[in-house]
Amino acid sequence: MFKIEAIIQPSKLGAVREALKAIGVEGITIAEVRGHGRQKGHKEVYRGREYIVDLLPKIRLEMVVTEARREDVIEAILGAARTGKIGDGKIFVYNVEGAIRIRNADRGEAAL
Ligand SMILES: Nc1ncnc2c1ncn2[C@@H]1O[C@H](COP(=O)(O)OP(=O)(O)OP(=O)(O)O)[C@@H](O)[C@H]1O
Ligand SMILES: [Mg+2]
Repeated sequence: MFKIEAIIQPSKLGAVREALKAIGVEGITIAEVRGHGRQKGHKEVYRGREYIVDLLPKIRLEMVVTEARREDVIEAILGAARTGKIGDGKIFVYNVEGAIRIRNADRGEAAL
């Protein structure tokens, strides 16, 4: 099992969710987060003064999926979240040691 963590532009959340639904992804966790990448945010003017706004709003999605689904999930996110501009986001992939459904103690892929 793998955890796919994707940090995307908030405006792409709808399209990414549709793409994930289309390939049958069931469980997902979504959070509103703030962050920056290589450009370290940007400059913004407020009441005539210039501020460095170094943390921009992003959406973080987390899904734990089977190995069989891993590449399809990555492709779906890439296809729906990419504009080709800086700040499109990033996908991180982690190995997952275990999963347990609390209701019935199902384990492993059966718990997803
Ligand atoms: N190495 C990292 N570790 C953790 N979070 C990251 C990392 N890089 C990017 N992020 C998160 O992803 C968001 C989007 O990053 P972003 O797409 O700007 O990456 P980038 O490397 O600067 O690429 P680009 O040049 O395309 O902008 C950041 O705001 C931050 O929340
Ligand atoms: Mg960036």
